[in-house]
Amino acid sequence: MSPTRPTTANVFIASFIHAVLILSAPHLHAQATNYADKPPLLLGAAWYPEQWPESRWEKDLSEMAAAHIDVVRVGEFAWSTMEPSEGQYDFGWLERAIDLAAKHHVCVVLGTPTAAPPAWLTTKYPETLRWDENGVRDEHGNREQFSFTDPKYRQLAHDIAEQMAIHFGHNPNVVGWQLDNEYSAPSFDPTAKEQFHRWLEKKYVTVAELNRHWAAAYWSQSYDNFDEIPVREDGENPALLLEWKRFVSETWKSYSENQISAIRPHADSRQFITTNTMGWFDGFNEYTVHSVLDIAAWDDYIPTDNYDYIANGAAHDLTRGYKQKNFWVMETEPAFVNWRKTNTPLLKGQVRDMAWQAIGHGAEAVEYWQWRSAPNGQEEYHGVLVGADGTPVPVYEEIKKTGEEFAKAGSALAGTAPHAEVALVNDFPSRWAIDFQRHSADFDPVGEMLAFYRPLREQSQCVDMISIDAPLDGYKVVELPGLNVISQAIADRLMAYVRNGGHLLLGPRSAMKDKYNALQPERQPGPLADFLGGRVDQFYALDQKVPVTGDLGSGTANIWAEQLSVQSPDTKVIATYGKSNGWLDDQPVVITRHVGQGSITYVGAWLDEALLSDLTTGLLAEAGVKPILPGVPQGVEVCRRSGQGKSVLILINHNTEQEHVALPSPMRDLIGSQDSISAVDLAPYGVAVLSYEK
Ligand code: GAL
Repeated sequence: MSPTRPTTANVFIASFIHAVLILSAPHLHAQATNYADKPPLLLGAAWYPEQWPESRWEKDLSEMAAAHIDVVRVGEFAWSTMEPSEGQYDFGWLERAIDLAAKHHVCVVLGTPTAAPPAWLTTKYPETLRWDENGVRDEHGNREQFSFTDPKYRQLAHDIAEQMAIHFGHNPNVVGWQLDNEYSAPSFDPTAKEQFHRWLEKKYVTVAELNRHWAAAYWSQSYDNFDEIPVREDGENPALLLEWKRFVSETWKSYSENQISAIRPHADSRQFITTNTMGWFDGFNEYTVHSVLDIAAWDDYIPTDNYDYIANGAAHDLTRGYKQKNFWVMETEPAFVNWRKTNTPLLKGQVRDMAWQAIGHGAEAVEYWQWRSAPNGQEEYHGVLVGADGTPVPVYEEIKKTGEEFAKAGSALAGTAPHAEVALVNDFPSRWAIDFQRHSADFDPVGEMLAFYRPLREQSQCVDMISIDAPLDGYKVVELPGLNVISQAIADRLMAYVRNGGHLLLGPRSAMKDKYNALQPERQPGPLADFLGGRVDQFYALDQKVPVTGDLGSGTANIWAEQLSVQSPDTKVIATYGKSNGWLDDQPVVITRHVGQGSITYVGAWLDEALLSDLTTGLLAEAGVKPILPGVPQGVEVCRRSGQGKSVLILINHNTEQEHVALPSPMRDLIGSQDSISAVDLAPYGVAVLSYEK
């Protein structure tokens, strides 16, 4: 061990010296973090001072301040600059960068640099490198080449995080911490395998129990001991695949805890700890990982040529659901990225549109990636605010305008959040289970979630996306588009919700599996079938549209169709299939049963947009859910945040034409004239932020 590497003893001494410094130099550190005094809405950028001469920083920061940038994220790839050789730390530059940012009223989120280990580390400790599923060890280069289980890597990650926290845990200009960067690839190294086996052993206790739940007699999979179990993420027993994902989730959680245990003891309690997630990425269970984080944050990039604002809003709601409170957009694109095949830009106006959408869905901060083009490196073509020459690029002005508006509307939005009457359940085990065995190639579980989300959002104008473990009582409608994996305990909670007057909607493939990814012993929806008074007699993959008719009107189903039957006289068929493969002809596709004031509805197919929309209309009417602002033109998004006696509407025109919106009562225009207005004309991609008495 290097003499300068911290041991428990010298960490203690460092903490002691640090404490003495704090007491003896109150102007330096005695002030608590100024997080609470920062603007309520933060505009920010990822800044990499280590890539530039120090003489340049002042100019960058004054250009940031001029654009109302109040926060920078710093450090998340700077390990080789912070610890140039093992145990030799250099935080002087970072301290000076943070102090200079403070001078310009720009606060800091510090990233722990563990997504990019330095070359000395992977050279000296090659065991820290990640293994892929086929046993090939990564080489140094690029980033994210580490193993998330390796004990040496965990120790080195702990050490650098701890050293950072010792230096900056009480720096008043540091408002929070980002752990690592976009957790993603697991490792299949020997330690990971060993840990997976022990994890299984702890869970099942005996291998006989595992064999029973996994039906291991099938294809002679029966194991004599846990060490025989293969470690794969594809092509294995679905029970194994599901457990592997759960293990990976627990491992990212403990990966986080390792760094949290390094930071928390040295950090002001008001400095939050988070990590930046990736929307619908399903590599691990976000609810598991977020159980140890203070807030949720995500990186909002548009994956295709078109900005689908409803899908983007859904990902905001998904992220808000991780902690069921407001969140941060830790990164977003200043008009374009560099990693799609053709990196078309957002249209002029859409960057501001997206920023306000984030706020409307509960973001507290929106940070652009990145401030300035790096002088070299893999991302030279990425969108920025300031070019390689150091002067602003055209989108800077749009972002500056957004910053001015954040500053104007901030106090009205402080302490407010979206509040929904309807919820949509996102369940990772169910998404994984469907994805392992899609059966119909186009059955994308996220696509299915979005199909249900779309009309729900358009008609109610506010949706919570929650985990199946979240309380349901506050919601008038709860939709479970694809709760494929269900336990008796969950079924009991869902039935109690309906008995208490809730309206429950189940989508296709619901309640087919138990928590071991085994088929339920009853037909779908398994433990809910009796309660529904109906069941799935057979499921079919579709490669063409099937007609559907009934109380909902006429339309089609595609991709997936379940043949339903009704077992109880008070279970009503509300739609049936028309002529198709013979099996489905005239059979029920949507059935519903009232239970007291509540209801349970089962939709057995992937219905077209119009049918799903009509179904949603009926359900919301029955449950008494009304839109926040009725009668707005299609393409105008309505968001409401309320709290502390305040209500604020954010209206965003995602259309390319001007739109007129009449307001039900006079409202104060927070980012325009500041006057009271009773109607608003929204330019293409225009935004209005309006406060009113409720
Ligand atoms: C993110 C990543 C950033 C940067 C960005 C480019 O996924 O966290 O470091 O690479 O993509 O779009």
